Amino acid sequence: MIGVGVIGCGYWGPNHVRNLSANPSSRVLYACDLSEERLAHVGRLYPATRPVRDYQEVLRDPAVDAVVVATPVSTHARIALDAFRAGKHVLVEKPMTASVEDALRLIEAADRAGKILMVGHTFLYASAVRMIQRTIAGGVLGRIHYVSMQRLNLGLFQTDYNVVWDLAPHDVSILLYLLPARPVAVSVHGRANVHPGVEDVAMMTLRFDDGMIAFLHFSWLDPKKVRQAIFVGDKKMLVYDDIRDTEKVDIYDKGVSAPKHYDTYAEFKFSYRYGEKVTPYIEEVEPLKFESAHFLECIQTGKKPLTDGANGLEVIRVLEASHRSIKNGGGFEKIG
Ligand SMILES: NC(=O)c1ccc[n+]([C@@H]2O[C@H](COP(=O)([O-])OP(=O)(O)OC[C@H]3O[C@@H](n4cnc5c(N)ncnc54)[C@H](O)[C@@H]3O)[C@@H](O)[C@H]2O)c1
Repeated sequence: MIGVGVIGCGYWGPNHVRNLSANPSSRVLYACDLSEERLAHVGRLYPATRPVRDYQEVLRDPAVDAVVVATPVSTHARIALDAFRAGKHVLVEKPMTASVEDALRLIEAADRAGKILMVGHTFLYASAVRMIQRTIAGGVLGRIHYVSMQRLNLGLFQTDYNVVWDLAPHDVSILLYLLPARPVAVSVHGRANVHPGVEDVAMMTLRFDDGMIAFLHFSWLDPKKVRQAIFVGDKKMLVYDDIRDTEKVDIYDKGVSAPKHYDTYAEFKFSYRYGEKVTPYIEEVEPLKFESAHFLECIQTGKKPLTDGANGLEVIRVLEASHRSIKNGGGFEKIG
């Protein structure tokens, strides 16, 4: 039985408490938060967990093997470093850290402690994303021309980091998982409409080393909740709509080709293909259930997590370059 403490029980942390409590391999021993109100809330739902305000109390208990860090990003590095020093395994929420420098420190600390470092890139544990990965890897879409992604809603507004740091980890981690190419440069335009200095809408262009391009739109200031990704390949096109409860993925046999040879303008004709649409069956399971189970399995077996520190770092490199771009008025920045 793996003893776990969940540090940070605001909006997202209680979902970890729920999933880890339901897993027969773990016991949630502590729920930790600075807010008495949040502790009272989690205590009502999970009376067997001990509510504490100071996370050091969680780290001091030898019965705690692992912690989940679900606090604001500015605190991730400090809490995770303390946890490794105390000999605990760590699942840290996305984005892993607020800088590349901190991400490297975390990876080093995990290695030194010989403990698991996993990052909460939850969408990589979603059945639909797994199915899209198999589809792309199997060559069904052909060569990907471009990807377009949208993650829009009204809220949830943050004040300590912008919409890119909040929402891009989801889509960037999905892209890094699905595509064999690596991102080399990023350009982001953004605007702070509500809270001065904190961009609430942003448009990102991500260039990859094979020439592929991805366009990503993030917003906390939109009338409609949209979570969509479109993959346009030279064989087929795929639409992933995460808002739908079922039938989240459609694969279209659509495309266009230009004539190879023509002598006159009159002979020049694009040929369009309007084929069938296939909606594969996907068994829906809460992604966090798989994520929690994977974390526990990695602790038990020493297996490398799918979303390990290196994966978290790759996302932070994109976010840091994005931050430079947005502050420089949208010019391309190298992802180094
Ligand atoms: N993987 C996902 O799908 C997903 C979804 C939402 C949020 N998140 C991530 O989870 C983290 C938390 O987000 P949230 O929306 O729950 O934020 P939140 O502000 O609702 O909750 C954060 C909680 O952490 C507590 N806290 C802050 N400092 C603390 C400390 N030193 N010790 C103990 N508790 C402390 C706060 O009191 C607060 O209750 C962020 O990194 C966010 O990006 C991930």
